[in-house]
Amino acid sequence: MSDKKIILTGDRPSGRLHLGHYVGSLKNRVQLQDKYKQFVLIADQQALTDNYENPDKVRQNVYEVMLDYLAVGLDPEKTTFVIQSLVPEIAELTMYFMNLVTVERLQRNPTVKSEMKDKGFGKNVPAGFLCYPVSQAADITIFKANLVPVGADQLPVLEQTNELVRRFNRIYGNVLSEIEPLVGEVARLCGIDGSAKMSKSLNNAIYLSDSEKEIEKKIKSMYTDPKHLRVEDPGKIEGNVVFAFLDAFDEDKKLVAELKAQYKKGGLGDSVVKKRLNEVLQKFLQPIRERREAYAKDPARVMAILQRGTEQARQVAEKTMQEVRKAMKIDYFSK
Ligand code: TRP
Repeated sequence: MSDKKIILTGDRPSGRLHLGHYVGSLKNRVQLQDKYKQFVLIADQQALTDNYENPDKVRQNVYEVMLDYLAVGLDPEKTTFVIQSLVPEIAELTMYFMNLVTVERLQRNPTVKSEMKDKGFGKNVPAGFLCYPVSQAADITIFKANLVPVGADQLPVLEQTNELVRRFNRIYGNVLSEIEPLVGEVARLCGIDGSAKMSKSLNNAIYLSDSEKEIEKKIKSMYTDPKHLRVEDPGKIEGNVVFAFLDAFDEDKKLVAELKAQYKKGGLGDSVVKKRLNEVLQKFLQPIRERREAYAKDPARVMAILQRGTEQARQVAEKTMQEVRKAMKIDYFSK
């Protein structure tokens, strides 16, 4: 392999991927796969930290997420797909990282805190969930990644990764590399209901695999400006989901600016703006859906791509672990 810089990123297989994933991270991955050596990890162990009672769900979504990846144009010739649980070296490194972080620090991570709240864990948070940023640090550093494309909500987790890297290197010597996060141009896409975040658990997402009809229905139900009752009334752009989506997906920026101006002034109905958004999103999602359907005809091929990638990734991980074991003086039987 060349001296290309390395990307590692991933997703939890707890549901299909949606437009929020696309603008936050998938788009960057598709664009960067030519320039970087890219590993994309399906974090099934991380998904199990809060879905341990639903192994079937996690297993099914490993396949769904693979389909989503291939559908958006991640190319198996350029990107190495990895299933986390079958690279046990990641769990091994996690174990050593665990000593380098305090429980107090884990409890302070804002991403974990807000997820714990959403999931209603209260004081009964599974230890595995609280520690997932540690395992994520192992996901990333074991591949010696330089760049990590993620959604904005992941930034605190990546900050913890760099803390662990610095601590590890200071104690055991310079083995691991610090990373740089890369957030999409549209850092965070709101939900169709106007919530700050598009998310499966909030039931406000448009999925990459949604049918034409589902997309249309979701756009019709989008939150706009509740005070914009009559067409002639002036309307608000801020907090208006339809405009947020046009900003994210409509390439005709001039038209969007005109629509905004007219909406603010009054005389433009929600239905007209929604119709434009429907055109834009249908055009964007149709080829993705078609590619997804084509791959879905051959599940064995999809899983074989994942298996092949995992085998390649494991070799890289094992090599890093040899360096880690040596640095930590636990390489008892090697010469
Ligand atoms: N925590 C990430 C998410 O919820 C998924 C993830 C797991 C990840 N391992 C990773 C992201 C490594 C980037 C790098 O979206």
